[in-house]
Amino acid sequence: VPDQPSIRTQRLLLRPWRDDDREPFGALNADPEVMEHFPATLTRAESDAFVDRIEAHFARYGYGLWVVEVDGEHAGFVGLQTVTFEASFVPAVEVGWRLARPYWGRGLASEGARAALDYAFDEVRLDEVVSFTAVDNVRSWRVMERVGMSRAGVFDHPRVPEGHRLRPHVLYRIRPADRTW
Ligand SMILES: CC(C)(COP(=O)(O)OP(=O)(O)OC[C@H]1O[C@@H](n2cnc3c(N)ncnc32)[C@H](O)[C@@H]1OP(=O)(O)O)[C@@H](O)C(=O)NCCC(=O)NCCS
Repeated sequence: VPDQPSIRTQRLLLRPWRDDDREPFGALNADPEVMEHFPATLTRAESDAFVDRIEAHFARYGYGLWVVEVDGEHAGFVGLQTVTFEASFVPAVEVGWRLARPYWGRGLASEGARAALDYAFDEVRLDEVVSFTAVDNVRSWRVMERVGMSRAGVFDHPRVPEGHRLRPHVLYRIRPADRTW
């Protein structure tokens, strides 16, 4: 879809999806280390179906989970997504991230998250953005804390079966005035 926004940061290009993103994204979703805090790794078909849903979200809302490009390479996604399950904090837009293993440990997820939050607050004009992850996913909630989000509680994710290790989630939120950058 033309006219979809791309965002440049110091080290990243956040851009819409292209067909040639599907292969590296499929590889990332098949990596057990990347998917440790999700119920399962994804098959290529499941990964492609996820990309279809991401593109539908961009078409509907004008923003979404952007491809993260680093030095011309597909590194994963960072962006904004409408929450589609029922919970006390919904309706809400979440900020989220998933990077291929070689791109961890460089501050790239938090750099992308700040750009996505600026877009949410300054372009979409949202007054709050949430984020959540399985309690065990310390790397992910450290990104939330690094970008100045505050812990707002814990909840059981309704899409994860009762008793599953991934069901307990931490919830974080941020408002425009909380930005530390
Ligand atoms: C969650 C995820 C994106 C976090 O990536 P990350 O690289 O740890 O996060 P950041 O971009 O904030 O980088 C922070 C790390 O980079 C280091 N770093 C290096 N340079 C940095 C810089 N300029 N700025 C900030 N941090 C920097 C930090 O010290 C920290 O490393 P540490 O964890 O060893 O202390 C990544 O682990 C991932 O994709 N996981 C799999 C998918 C997933 O679980 N997604 C979330 C689901 S809710």
